[in-house]
Amino acid sequence: MRQRRLLGLEVNGTAAQIAVDPSQTLLQVLRDELSLTGTKEGCSNGNCGACTVLVDGVSVLSCLTLGMEMEGKSVLTVEGLAQGTRLHPVQQAYIEEAGLQCGYCTPGLIMSTVYLLKRIPNPTEQEIRLNLAGNLCRCTGYDKIIRSVQSAAKMLQEVQS
Ligand code: FES
Ligand code: FES
Repeated sequence: MRQRRLLGLEVNGTAAQIAVDPSQTLLQVLRDELSLTGTKEGCSNGNCGACTVLVDGVSVLSCLTLGMEMEGKSVLTVEGLAQGTRLHPVQQAYIEEAGLQCGYCTPGLIMSTVYLLKRIPNPTEQEIRLNLAGNLCRCTGYDKIIRSVQSAAKMLQEVQS
């Protein structure tokens, strides 16, 4: 292990300063140093999307990003979405529409959905499929995931209107 260095960042709205190995990925920093195990490790090489988080509001694969690159940045993980006991509408929609089975892909899909709906509040099915193409799921066959995203879009529009 290399000598640790101090990293200052914000995670889910809270400032953190931690000593990390400069070779650690953001995924390792989140899971191993901050105990935020909601973000999952699937392939570790950028192919499955399970490790997706938002950095300064933009979707990032945390397995391909070094933790040290997060200096001064703001990271949002699946743990940061709920408000107390109230789930984020995207989380609620995935439950109601059964957009998950084993759930391994789900945190990444939820973060990609949050990112998609921020940019395109009312996406077409094709836009949903295109924007979630980097998130693999072995269980659901994707149709329920698409319905979850459509339902989340409706919920978010109702909240905002
Ligand atoms: S674990 Fe990062 S893309 Fe698969
Ligand atoms: S629910 Fe199992 S991989 Fe997606």
